[in-house]
Amino acid sequence: MSQQFDVVVIGGGPGGYVAAIRASQLGFKVACIDEWKNAAGGPAPGGTCTNVGCIPSKALLQSSEHYEQANHHFAEHGITVKGLGLDVGTMIGRKDTVVKQNNDGILYLFKKNKIAFFHGRGSFVKAVEGGYEIQVAGASEETLVGKQIIIATGSNARALPGTPFDEVNVLSNDGALRLGAVPKKLGLIGSGVIGLEMGSVWRRLGAEVTILEGLPTFLGAVDEQIAKEAKKAFDKQGLKIELGVKVGEIKTSKKGVSVAYTNAKGEAIDLEVDKLIVSIGRVPNTMGLNTEAVGLQLDERGAIVVDADCKTNLPGVWAVGDVVRGPMLAHKAEEEGVAVAERIAGQHGHVNFNTIPWVIYTSPEIAWVGRTEQQLKADGVAYKAGTFPFLANGRARALGDTTGMVKFLADATTDEILGVHIVGPMASELIAEAVVAMEFKASAEDIARICHAHPSLSEATKEAALAVDKRTLNF
Ligand code: FAD
Ligand code: NAI
Repeated sequence: MSQQFDVVVIGGGPGGYVAAIRASQLGFKVACIDEWKNAAGGPAPGGTCTNVGCIPSKALLQSSEHYEQANHHFAEHGITVKGLGLDVGTMIGRKDTVVKQNNDGILYLFKKNKIAFFHGRGSFVKAVEGGYEIQVAGASEETLVGKQIIIATGSNARALPGTPFDEVNVLSNDGALRLGAVPKKLGLIGSGVIGLEMGSVWRRLGAEVTILEGLPTFLGAVDEQIAKEAKKAFDKQGLKIELGVKVGEIKTSKKGVSVAYTNAKGEAIDLEVDKLIVSIGRVPNTMGLNTEAVGLQLDERGAIVVDADCKTNLPGVWAVGDVVRGPMLAHKAEEEGVAVAERIAGQHGHVNFNTIPWVIYTSPEIAWVGRTEQQLKADGVAYKAGTFPFLANGRARALGDTTGMVKFLADATTDEILGVHIVGPMASELIAEAVVAMEFKASAEDIARICHAHPSLSEATKEAALAVDKRTLNF
């Protein structure tokens, strides 16, 4: 006998578990299926984000930043540290504990919201009258029927052709987050978000890090001025980033990995490293869904084809998060999950793609929302720009972290904020004000007129808004 549900969610990452909670809040009978296993084989909902993505990477970024501070910056504060040590096992163990707290938190939320959780792989069997039959295989062996199906099966790391991940020498994000010791020499392919975050973690802990990037520009999606400022800071830290390279043969041996590449000048180089992290993007994951059984349409990249409302080609089947088009971000997946649950309930769920913030959690942090200066130029939009350096911010000086700036881009005629770009301390938190402002279609003057606490980093945001009108007070 199959169990009947109003909504069956396949995938328990940020897209799936949040969709399940919202659907339950709206009065539906909901099931969520997730196959992720912890080390003991038990359920570990939360997807890539919780298990091998956002959460563990931020835990290690925090631990490694503490080490970096104690090693290099405490002295400026008159604090002497003798016999500073590093226990990678404890650091990784703490990260695992943080992950488990989040897994358990989601299991608790399933209970609290009366969501039936099934631990196993969900796949389509067939369309049935008024819904779809879904088989669960794994720890839970069940057949479910859902009137509405939400697919949130996420993504997997992309491997270099001919070089599969072995997670010993050639690492994806998974292996990169659980190295047992600091490699003496670490190579990374791809200086995108993962390359910079993971490269930073292991550099701070003592690895000699080289990042090989195929494109000639550094962080091409980021505002050029901000990317330039960030690159300067990374260079100073000793994070070696080579742009415009062509990666050739990769050989692994007992000693490590050798990467043959051609640099931007056309010179052939062999890079010998102990470990290699490949961070060249991610591929949508529909493996095991048995999409053929129901004729679910995929695009040439393997992503599920959806319209602006996350509807697939099949009636009653929706898809959200990394498995569909758009940025691969946890908060984007969550927003889509909530919007789909609301649409199923006949409400007008909405995701504003123009105000999705991006954050790179390096030091300095990089965060932005809206369009970059180069995009505005390309689009022929008349704009005004205002910047304010953290060097002139009292709180940043007190913190001892004055790298970077806040940058505002506003419409030349209406003063509406078109983009805000930050490189510097706590950019990840500061960007929220810009997101709210843009969501409410605020002008730069609106921010400039708002009282900001003193001394705070957020004063740099106000000052950058003032700079749009060339009237900064402290610079
Ligand atoms: P996922 O989180 O991938 O979840 C999908 C889930 O579905 C998984 O648990 C999977 O096991 C399960 N599943 C798949 N197929 C089936 C099936 N057939 N049956 C049952 N279960 C199935 N984003 C940010 O916004 N901020 C960050 O700081 C950030 N840091 C990141 C760091 C790293 C190292 C990586 C790799 C990613 C990071 N991301 C970050 C991206 C973020 O993790 C993803 O955008 C997000 O997890 C996508 O959510 P999702 O729900 O679409 O998919
Ligand atoms: P990415 O798309 O951010 O960067 C990949 C980089 O690899 C690009 O710069 C690309 O030009 C380069 N590249 C591709 N093929 C190459 C090749 N053959 N040789 C050399 N360079 C090559 O992808 P990444 O870093 O793997 O991360 C995947 C996604 O995960 C991100 O796009 C992001 O959506 C998400 N993520 C988000 C984080 C955050 O929000 N803080 C943190 C980490 C990941």
